Formats: sequence, C-alpha cells, structure tokens
Amino acid sequence: MTLSLGTATTASKTKVLFLGSGELGKEVVLELMRLGVHVVACDRYADAPAMQVAHSCHVFPMLDGAKLRAVIEEEKPDFIVPEIEAIATETLVALEAEGHHVIPTARAARLTMDREGIRRLAAEDLGLPTSPYRFADTEDEFRAAVEAIGMPCVVKPIMSSSGRGQSTIREASDVAEAWTIAREGARGGAGKVIVEGFIDFDYEITLLTVRHLNAAGETVTSFCPPVGHRQVDGDYHESWQPQPMSGNALAEAQRIAAAVTGDVGGRGLFGVELFVKGDQVWFSEVSPRPHDTGMVTLITQDLSEFALHARAILGLPIPDIHQHGPGASYVILGHGKSDAPRFEIDPAGLAQPQTSLRLFGKPTVDGERRLGVGLARGADVTEARAKAKKVAESVTVVLD
Ligand SMILES: Nc1ncnc2c1ncn2[C@@H]1O[C@H](COP(=O)(O)OP(=O)(O)OP(=O)(O)O)[C@@H](O)[C@H]1O
Ligand SMILES: [Mg+2]
Repeated sequence: MTLSLGTATTASKTKVLFLGSGELGKEVVLELMRLGVHVVACDRYADAPAMQVAHSCHVFPMLDGAKLRAVIEEEKPDFIVPEIEAIATETLVALEAEGHHVIPTARAARLTMDREGIRRLAAEDLGLPTSPYRFADTEDEFRAAVEAIGMPCVVKPIMSSSGRGQSTIREASDVAEAWTIAREGARGGAGKVIVEGFIDFDYEITLLTVRHLNAAGETVTSFCPPVGHRQVDGDYHESWQPQPMSGNALAEAQRIAAAVTGDVGGRGLFGVELFVKGDQVWFSEVSPRPHDTGMVTLITQDLSEFALHARAILGLPIPDIHQHGPGASYVILGHGKSDAPRFEIDPAGLAQPQTSLRLFGKPTVDGERRLGVGLARGADVTEARAKAKKVAESVTVVLD
C-alpha cells in the first residue's frame, strides 16, 4: 500500500479545512504544516489562534449551514476537521454523503454536538456504564427529573461546554437556581437540560484514544497513558500524565473507550472522559478531536495528541506512542476585558529544566478566557505538577 501527500500552495496540495480555530486546532495545524499540508482555518472571528498559522481563512458562524456549504464547495478540501462542537452538523452529514471526508465522521460531530446524542448512544445502544440521567425540556419535567434521579445530582444544559450552565443540586433549596443557571448558560439560550446522578469518583481521566491506519492499511485503535485532571466549576485547570490506575480500571477504561470510538468510527484522536472509583469506571462524554486536558502530551509524548490526530487524519501509521516521562499542564487564565492582552513574564519559572510554555495568541478577552498553558516534566507527577504551576504562575496576564 502507498500513501500520497501533495505540497501546500501548489496544484498537488493536500488540503485540510478546520471548522473552529482555537488553541487545540492551532497545534494540529502546526503538525500538518510540518508535513507540507495546505491548511484553511475557519472560525466566527478573525485572527483566531489556528488562523494565525494557516495558509488562509474564512470568518463566518459555524452554525450557518448555507455558509458552511458554500465555503466547503469553494475550497474542496481533502479533509474537513471539526474543531468545536457548535457546527451545522446536519450540513456536515449531507456533505459527507456527497463524498466529502469529515474527521472522524459527520455522525461523530452530530452525536457529540449536544449531550443527548452521545449519552443515549453510550448508555442505551452500547450498554456502557454512565451516571443515571434524565432529560428535561420544561421546569416541571426538570423537577420530576431531579425527583427521579435523587440528590446530589448534576444539572447541565445539553448544549454547553467548559462547565457553562452547570451546577450541582445538594438540597431542595438548590433546585430553582440550578434551573436558572442551566437556562442562562445554554449555548444559543434555553434548550433541554440533563440531570445526572452525582458520581462520587476517586479521580477522573481523559483516555486519549486514536483510531488510525497501520502499515497494512487496516484501522486500529491505540491508547495514550491516562491523563488525570482537576476541574474547577466544570472547567479544566490542571492535568497530568500518567494518572496511576489499577490494571482492572485501566482495562475497563480502554474497553469503554474502544466501544464508543469504534461505534462512532472514522479516523482521528478522541478524548474519552471517564470517572473512576476503585475498579469501577463510568463513561462521561467524548470529544471526537484532541482534548484540552491532553495539552500535557505536548511535553510528555514523542507524538502529542495533536501530532497523533494529524497522522490519523492523513492515514499515516503511528509507530508507537513514546513517553518521555511523567508530566503536567497548568492553565493560564485572563480575567477582564481587553483587545490587546499582554504577558509579563518572570524568567525564573521558565528557566526550570524540562518545562515549556504555550501562549495561544487569542486577540481579545471579555470575561474569563484560557490564554495559555504551562507545561513540565518531572521525576514524578507531583514534581511535574508543581513545576507546571510555577511556569503558569510566572506569567501575569495584563488586560488594559
Ligand atoms: N455526574 C457527575 N458526577 C460527578 N461529577 C460530575 C458529573 N458530571 C460532571 N461532573 C464534573 O464536572 C466536570 C465537567 O462536566 P462535563 O465534562 O460533563 O462538562 P463540560 O461542560 O462538557 O466540560 P468540558 O467541556 O470542560 O469537558 C467533569 O469533568 C466532572 O469533574
Ligand atoms: Mg467534559
């Protein structure tokens, strides 16, 4: 079997089009650029991180199906790579049926666009363990759902990410507020909510799972060592790799990840989010693309999650997923308002051995925004976490 790649900017180009151009897409673009791939980056605003490293870009709302179709028909990419959840996924399904190649599949983008599709697939079709759950459209249905699931329970809009609109109900007096928080935090406003039983887990992981071709051209599944992480209000602040796990828990985590990604199909890297207690593992959700907690692999692995995604997209085999040693990432957040963020850097943090820094190049901040990440390796995860935190804390975000 032979694989074929062209040269960017020329008639032979292999063209990859990104729908969404955030910091995760930027790292995938950089990996594709190293292979001479031609990259077109799209997002709803100009100068998004991945646009700054792409050959060309389009600025339009990703939920506008007609515009999405027009851009794809004009660009005729070899691969379409969704980088965010909020995309006109019905248009992607139609484009795929017409012969376009969506990564990993248009169905994956449609199922993970809201929490309902993927949750029903995992729990009801595949029979995988998840928290108990109910969906609700109205306040009455919501109250009935809380009653049925019991307290404590977690409430989330089905259309949201990064913890927006999420809250935990611990007592009856929290119920009314949880409904308001979910309604106000939903992408696009209102919409359904999910009420999930609270899982009292020991720790949570992201199992980075890649479906890719081997040298014989067969699709196979490879796993990165588990990434542990800490969430604050449903948003990731810190991650590390490897998360220590029992052999049984790891085997169960891999079984669940293989089942979900195998059903979704296609090629690419997935972030499978799982809760673990002892040897028991629950599926939580999956991103059919690199995961924010997986930024740690920029320093721990020979091929980061972004390099793995790039290779899987292009159909290149993955030799092995080599570990350089335990590592950690720690986010750099900006709070406030600015259209020209600056960073004041204390060199002592960055002078620590086996550390690195990413600043995403996001041109504006309004509220809280993730602007970078500190990375470190250490003798063990504890040391790596302390070093990564020091890198992040040596960067002061200046918004004025
Ligand atoms: N049923 C649950 N029981 C216990 N904790 C939960 C439950 N659901 C969510 N959490 C906690 O909240 C975090 C965020 O939840 P979830 O991943 O569903 O939201 P999200 O908005 O998609 O976040 P992100 O986009 O950062 O992945 C989880 O990583 C976990 O720490
Ligand atoms: Mg999540």
